[in-house]
Amino acid sequence: MERTHFNGTLRLENVGEEVTLLGWVANRRNLGSLLFIDLRDTTGIVQLRTSEPEKFPDVRNEYVIEAKGTVVKKDQPNKALPTGDIEIALSSIKVISKAETTPFIIADKSDALEDTRLKYRYLDLRRPILQKNLRLRAKIAKVWREYLDERGFTEIETPILNLSSPEGARDYLVPSRVHPGAFYALPQSPQLWKQLLMLGGMERYYQVAKCFRDEDLRADRQPEFTQLDAEMSFMDQDQVLSLMEGFLKRLFKETIDVDIELPLRRMKYWDAMDIYGSDKPDTRFDLKLQDIKSYMTPTEFGGFGAYVKGIVVPGVAAETSRKVIDSLSEEARKYRLKGVFVLKFLNGALEGSFLKFLTPEQQKGLVEGLGLKDGDILVFASHDDRRVIDFGLGAIRSLYGRQLGYVRPDTYDLLWVVDFPMFDPVEGQPGLYSAEHHPFTRPRDEDLPLLDTNPEEALAYAYDIVINGYEAGGGTLRIYDHDTQWKIFKLLGLSDEDVAEKFGWFIDAFRYGAPPHGGIAFGMDRLAMILNQTENIRDVIAFPKNLQATDPTSKAPQKVSQEQLDILGISVKE
Ligand code: AMO
Repeated sequence: MERTHFNGTLRLENVGEEVTLLGWVANRRNLGSLLFIDLRDTTGIVQLRTSEPEKFPDVRNEYVIEAKGTVVKKDQPNKALPTGDIEIALSSIKVISKAETTPFIIADKSDALEDTRLKYRYLDLRRPILQKNLRLRAKIAKVWREYLDERGFTEIETPILNLSSPEGARDYLVPSRVHPGAFYALPQSPQLWKQLLMLGGMERYYQVAKCFRDEDLRADRQPEFTQLDAEMSFMDQDQVLSLMEGFLKRLFKETIDVDIELPLRRMKYWDAMDIYGSDKPDTRFDLKLQDIKSYMTPTEFGGFGAYVKGIVVPGVAAETSRKVIDSLSEEARKYRLKGVFVLKFLNGALEGSFLKFLTPEQQKGLVEGLGLKDGDILVFASHDDRRVIDFGLGAIRSLYGRQLGYVRPDTYDLLWVVDFPMFDPVEGQPGLYSAEHHPFTRPRDEDLPLLDTNPEEALAYAYDIVINGYEAGGGTLRIYDHDTQWKIFKLLGLSDEDVAEKFGWFIDAFRYGAPPHGGIAFGMDRLAMILNQTENIRDVIAFPKNLQATDPTSKAPQKVSQEQLDILGISVKE
């Protein structure tokens, strides 16, 4: 079977050539005396035609055929197709493989349910848009490899069967046959291994790494995903960031021909939270969070906490019904706020149930201070915990950003969020903390004394790259001395035994000469989403899991036989 051309590559300059083409019948139109067939291969579609349909075997959609013919110029070009200037005057068709009627029509615009498309992913993958997404994804890994290879980095694979260790999400466990009752864990990231590579003197490592996390899924999260992972020794934070933004510049240029201006903006974590209510702010639009406590107090209202903040949303007062307000409150409750208040500014006056708590002077101050215009609303809330109010209002800000069409997928907004806190206080357990990034993150030198006095105020050498409101990657400089590492584990509530058992093998390595080091991991799937302008991570993964973490194509996971369980020494609770 030998093709002379790929279908999507044929152009006017091929006119007159005899061609042999292969592919799938994408469409077939029989006009009685004229037969048209659209023939699809991985490069695109070309139109075949004949005025003697009776001479050719009958073909239907998705048949795989070999077609021979001559390239001719079309009288009326089809502007919608790259091959639309020409068509093929058929001389023969050979049916290679017949097709039954497919469960859905194979076209870029599909109204089939996603679960049906995932069940028949091999059919879904015939849609040109998915093939385009996967090609762009492949390019991301290629640019990553080239960029780092040119800079003296070495690609190194790290183990998939690992020790289970607390790193944020739940581990996927793999039972050991040789050691009944013992389990490996799949890597949540190659974090510890890449640090050991630095201790091993490799100095510059990278990898395209498969990672596994058993966490609740979302539109931008998969249980297995891919990181562009790197680690380097003897570089400070500025050096890491400038190296990595160089990669992003090249990536955007080579994949979608967009010029990114360097250096990228850097925003401090607490500024991002304070102004945008997010540690991954989409700064393509304003709707900034504002401190409105001074306008609202003193007040008879008994429910205010330490922070009172709000956002002004322009032009939506008329459509802000009770139902809309309830749905805003519902969104806010996901972030532990009790709810939100809404004041509308209509016909020169404020309206809303909260109005009774504001004196006429306060109302005037609010309208003037915030510069309210007719049709604006003020959505506000209060809480004692700074993170709660910021995240809650930030979520509402994002909702409006979308609803009002401020979020356009074809514009790009890249920034670093830096100066993350080391710790998140654990709610209801004073003195106990969880790591904001991970336990190996190095506190800023000037904040080291705070570890003994006010750990929650200590900031870290930690940075996230944020693109269009997505956390597209993140990293930190690492602790490289044994004592600080030990202290951090203590603050995270690990006992001596825990540390010795889970991490002893790791932190012992720091006794034998440890280089300062740091690194980053980009979420390759998220980069692929952003560059492909889709909000669905499943659109950029060949065989993704659905939101129930099931693979709809193979139906994994499934129960296994008793025999398999017996070999592993496992009994399953019903
Ligand atoms: P982190 O946990 O921030 O850092 O992960 C790095 C990046 O990986 C992507 N990502 C995901 N993508 C899809 N589905 C998921 N479930 C998922 N989880 C994370 C995000 C994220 O920014 N070892 C550290 C990196 C380091 O410090 O060098 C780490 O894994 O884009």
